[in-house]
Amino acid sequence: MSLITLIDFSELGDERGQLVAIEGSRNIPFDILRVYYMTRLKRDLARGFHAHRQLQQIAICLHGSCRFVLDNGCSREEIVLERPAQGLLIGNMIWREMHDFSDDCVLMVLANEYYDEEDYIRSYSTFLEAVQHA
Ligand code: TYD
Repeated sequence: MSLITLIDFSELGDERGQLVAIEGSRNIPFDILRVYYMTRLKRDLARGFHAHRQLQQIAICLHGSCRFVLDNGCSREEIVLERPAQGLLIGNMIWREMHDFSDDCVLMVLANEYYDEEDYIRSYSTFLEAVQHA
């Protein structure tokens, strides 16, 4: 089964511009408790390099592009996000890395829980151990 689950949102734009609506537990599979976004990213400074024990997230590249690497401990897949009407679902216990940010990249993430550092696994070897003992 692919690690990449993309959600295509309806594009509600018209001649005045583009519009996309996201409603918790309607067109995404969870209620949204937190939204964060990244700007002024650097192409050579990759981010992420962690997994979450419980958290589910959806990443949406609102402007520009970036490359996501997802890894479940058995396989690794990549996807370039470049469409503001497309979300990448990142389930729990998935190692993620973000690379190759365009200069104009604006990356937004929707999450189903508040920020909790205890939920992070920031060591790849700890992640592999946790996946293998699950
Ligand atoms: P982190 O999740 O490590 O960033 P990335 O995975 O994009 O490389 O977060 C960077 C810092 O910001 C870290 O100190 C935790 C803090 N942070 C919050 O306080 N709240 C949040 O919602 C997020 C996502 C991060």
